[in-house]
Amino acid sequence: MADSQTSRIPRHVAIIMDGNGRWAKKRLLPRSAGHNAGMNRMIGLSERAKQLGIHYLTVYALSTENLARPKDELDGLYSLIKKYFLKNVDKLIKGGAALRVIGDLSLLPEDVRTVIEDGVARSPEEAEFTFVIALAYGSRREIVGACGAAAAKGLAITEETLSANLYTGGIPDPDLIIRTGGELRLSNFLLWQAAYAELYFSDVLFPDFSDECLDDAVAEFSRRTRRFGKV
Ligand code: IPE
Ligand code: IPE
Ligand code: MG
Repeated sequence: MADSQTSRIPRHVAIIMDGNGRWAKKRLLPRSAGHNAGMNRMIGLSERAKQLGIHYLTVYALSTENLARPKDELDGLYSLIKKYFLKNVDKLIKGGAALRVIGDLSLLPEDVRTVIEDGVARSPEEAEFTFVIALAYGSRREIVGACGAAAAKGLAITEETLSANLYTGGIPDPDLIIRTGGELRLSNFLLWQAAYAELYFSDVLFPDFSDECLDDAVAEFSRRTRRFGKV
C-alpha cells in the first residue's frame, strides 16, 4: 500500500492511545499491565508508521488531566516512561529517526524530566521520520503558553506567530488523528493543529491496535476527500 499510494499517505499521523486500563481489566490484570502493553504497541506502531512513509507520528501518552490520576498509577507510568526512554531512544535514533517531546515537562518529577531531556538531546533535530511524544500535554495550556511566548518576543498574535510558538512549532499540522478505545472526543489534544485533520475513531483498545489497524486507518484516510472549505 505504501508504494502504490504514496501521495495518499498522510504526512503526519497523531494517535490518542486510549484503552490501556480497560484492556487490562478485561484480562483481570492491574492497569499497569495495560500501560506496559500499550507502551510496547506504541514502539511497534512507530516502526510501522516509518515503513508506511509517514513522516511524523505523534502519540498522546500523558495529558495534563491524567496528572490527577492516583499516585500509584502515575508512578507506574513514570517508571515505564523512564524504561522506555532508556531502552528505545537510542534504537530509534540509530534507525535514523528524530525524537520530539511536546508538553509541559516542568509538571513531571525531576528524574523523569531528566531522562526525557537527555533522550531529546541525543536526537537529531531533523530526520525523514520524526516521532513526537506528548507528555504532560494539554492543548489549552499549549495555546495560552504560545500567546505568552509570542507576546514576550514582541510579536503580534497572528495564526503564523501562534503556530510557531506552540510546542509543535515547525511540525506540520496532523493530517489524520486516530483515537483508539471507543471514545469520540479529543480530550485536549492538538485542538489548534487539528483544524483540518481527518478524524478516525476505532473501538479497538490501544494495546490491541495492530499494525494492520494502522494500515486500515491510513487506507480510510486515502479514500477521504479533503476540501479545506473549497468546493
Ligand atoms: C490511555 O489509557 C493511556 C493514558 C491515559 C495514560 P487509559 O489509562 O485511559 O485506559 P482506559 O481509558 O482507562 O481504558
Ligand atoms: C486521553 O485519554 C489521554 C491520553 C490518551 C494520553 P483519557 O483516557 O485520559 O481521556 P478521557 O479522560 O477519557 O477523555
Ligand atoms: Mg482512557
